[in-house]
Amino acid sequence: MQVLTTIEEFREAKDALKGTWGFVPTMGYLHAGHLSLVKRARAENDHVAVSIFVNPTQFGPNEDFAAYPRDLQRDLDLLQPHAVDLVFNPTPEVIYPPHFQTYVTVEEVTRHLEGAARPVHFRGVATVVTKLFNIVGAERAYFGQKDAQQTIVIKRLVADLALPIQIIVCPTLREPDGLAMSSRNTYLNAEQRKAAPVLYRALYAAKEAFDKGERSGKELRATMRRVIEAEPLASIDYVSAADPMTLQELPPEPSQPKAEEAVLLSMAVRIGQPRLIDNFLYENGQWLAGEFAG
Ligand code: PAF
Repeated sequence: MQVLTTIEEFREAKDALKGTWGFVPTMGYLHAGHLSLVKRARAENDHVAVSIFVNPTQFGPNEDFAAYPRDLQRDLDLLQPHAVDLVFNPTPEVIYPPHFQTYVTVEEVTRHLEGAARPVHFRGVATVVTKLFNIVGAERAYFGQKDAQQTIVIKRLVADLALPIQIIVCPTLREPDGLAMSSRNTYLNAEQRKAAPVLYRALYAAKEAFDKGERSGKELRATMRRVIEAEPLASIDYVSAADPMTLQELPPEPSQPKAEEAVLLSMAVRIGQPRLIDNFLYENGQWLAGEFAG
């Protein structure tokens, strides 16, 4: 496993290895969810590249860029057993050199949910992901369903700009109590950690209501709210029951034809200070609610 820090070094190392490439972009502080993406990339490609880069442009001025957990040696130790060929670990100056002024903006689908709560976030994500795709030149890239809106934005970007890469979305990985794995879970103290599975319970309650026939967007959102409001440490940033294509909220009264039914249940909730996100997706007649790590 080679670790490269400049674009030139990375391209040279990649050119020496012929075959197909799977790419897993990350911000490091890896967990089992990231490793499940690496395993899938390993199974579907001749070679695997992972990037580790805490991207400053996707954090707002009052967000956690400085505090975001970083431990390169720990990440490399976790990647080592997975036969990763190349790790790209650039400095901010490599990605954003002096005079950098070109950004990628995805319009409509970034206006809702995380995009509404975090105004610069998706411009930063779309820009860095486009640049990383250009540097790495992989056939396939792997993302987690946990960041549902991010996967929608990236698929839109790839389709709109005809980027020659296939986007593969892999299930959210969950702790035994349902908490979705995230590098940001390290912010939770013991008491907050106990409260954090409330997101999973709220999503599950709305799923059960949907499965029993509830189709009102208003009722599905109210179901999630009720569960979260019963947890004293939790405060809601948003809860959403939206069309997964457009991310428009489902109206109070059902409007989708039965055959096309699809819903993205999602939320951002603060547990004390830490802000967590999670989602369940229903499409093609089935729920994508994540998998329990085993
Ligand atoms: O999902 C993440 O970790 C980041 O948003 C990504 C895709 C690596 C871009 O910085």
